[in-house]
Amino acid sequence: MKEIINVELKTRKVEPDKIETDLLAVGIFSDAKELDKLNAHLDSRLDGAIERLIKLGDFKAKEGTCEVIYSNGRIGAKRILLVGLGEKKKAAIDTLRKAAANAAKKAVELKIENLALTLHKAFAVQSDLSAMGRAMAEGAYFGSYRYDEFVTGSENGRPGRLEIELIDSDTAKLKKLHDGVVKGVIIGKAQSYARTVANRPGNVISPAKLAELAKELVSGSKNLNCEIFDEKQLAKEGMGGILAVGSGSQNKPRFIVLKYNAAGKAAKNRPRVALVGKAITFDSGGISIKPATDMEEMKLDKSGGIAVMVTLKAVADMGLPVNAVGLIPSAENLPSGTSYRPGDIVTTFSGKTVEVINTDAEGRMILCDALDYAVKEKCDIIIDIATLTGACRVALGKYMAGLMGNDQMLIKQLQRAAEDSGEKVWPMPSSDEYAQEMKSKIADLKNTGSKFGGACTAAAFLRQFVGSAKWAHLDIAGVDMIDKATEFATEGASGFGVRLLTTYLMNLADQKR
Ligand code: BES
Ligand code: MN
Ligand code: ZN
Repeated sequence: MKEIINVELKTRKVEPDKIETDLLAVGIFSDAKELDKLNAHLDSRLDGAIERLIKLGDFKAKEGTCEVIYSNGRIGAKRILLVGLGEKKKAAIDTLRKAAANAAKKAVELKIENLALTLHKAFAVQSDLSAMGRAMAEGAYFGSYRYDEFVTGSENGRPGRLEIELIDSDTAKLKKLHDGVVKGVIIGKAQSYARTVANRPGNVISPAKLAELAKELVSGSKNLNCEIFDEKQLAKEGMGGILAVGSGSQNKPRFIVLKYNAAGKAAKNRPRVALVGKAITFDSGGISIKPATDMEEMKLDKSGGIAVMVTLKAVADMGLPVNAVGLIPSAENLPSGTSYRPGDIVTTFSGKTVEVINTDAEGRMILCDALDYAVKEKCDIIIDIATLTGACRVALGKYMAGLMGNDQMLIKQLQRAAEDSGEKVWPMPSSDEYAQEMKSKIADLKNTGSKFGGACTAAAFLRQFVGSAKWAHLDIAGVDMIDKATEFATEGASGFGVRLLTTYLMNLADQKR
């Protein structure tokens, strides 16, 4: 997994005022009446610099804000970064994730090479220190991520590496934090890699190229293997949906199948889970071509598939006792003399026929073959993730993914994973009324519904292909992209789904909730 900035994250026992680092990050609540012990101690060493800044009103400790103080040699650290944690009563795991992201983003902006993170004491009294270590590690990777691999000339002048330490002076506390950090580093690196591959444009990532990356990803991973179906095999298998969408491009479609099966007894009684991810390497809309404005964003239409690929890698790296399959149908949706057309009737892998009304509703055309493959693989649980509809983005905006499904328990588990991972979801329907709109007069189904409820009719279409499996669908069309830089991340692919799906499988492995 190529890293753009090589970020290494470790834990270390050291006193905050003694550590020699470029930047020491400490948290502050916006409603704290006075400085807590650590900050008060640092403040006295710094001759009241922290108090002064706060008294002057230059730093209010709101979430997503931070302020640099120069230590002038008074402590080991060259700079202190005050990181706003917002109101204490609202503090949660995601507060820590965001604070770490905020600090790491600042560290890269400052072009420094090392950063120390501290855990605010208010969190340490809570129980799950491992979860906190994990969240901070995830945040540190998220915030330090940059996409500039095609900017020539010394990587924008920033260092190629960042060393981050999560420090504490208490050995027992540090040990628990460390357990979580190890997992957070795996997830964080996986998510950064997902963002890099998603950010690469259509002339760099074709379906075949994506398949090569999948091969590369599994090499050296225990219990994880990868099988690629090329266009000839797709034809032999009768995967008509994937073939139809891919028919307009010189870059031929692929179907990537990843299988992870943990060694040992623990994994034996676990359900077989299929993760299915849409990987359109570029979506022009095809013959039903999209308007030119913002069309370049459609290079991110492979984000769901990449999230699946990378989740399996993270799961393998952690050696989770689960049984998981990653299914990634990949094609490029372009108009040409060989493209599929509106009006075409396509026979899908399941044997069901689909009347194509709009070639831009291509995601469901490739997903239906992969969903049916999951059924044939006897998967008990199927979760698909796709940048499927502009309608979902209209409905939910850029903060939450749409969550549909046919099993309340599975939906609950994904909602729980969303809470744990900070990748939010919101439930939406996909019931029979919506499915009714997807019926065709001249085929079994058509690929678009009416003008309204596009996210729900799309989900209802997918639902026709999952047989009796427990199924959930994540529409990530609104959340796959960060359109404007925030305090926690720069613009581009968000890597949404990596944390959510990995967390779902981790919870499943824990057999809790
Ligand atoms: N990839 C798009 C959905 C999309 C839109 C993702 C905006 C991210 C941002 C998808 O293939 C698509 O084009 N969907 C159509 C479906 C319609 C033709 C029924 C849409 O949403 O307009
Ligand atoms: Mn489309
Ligand atoms: Zn698409």
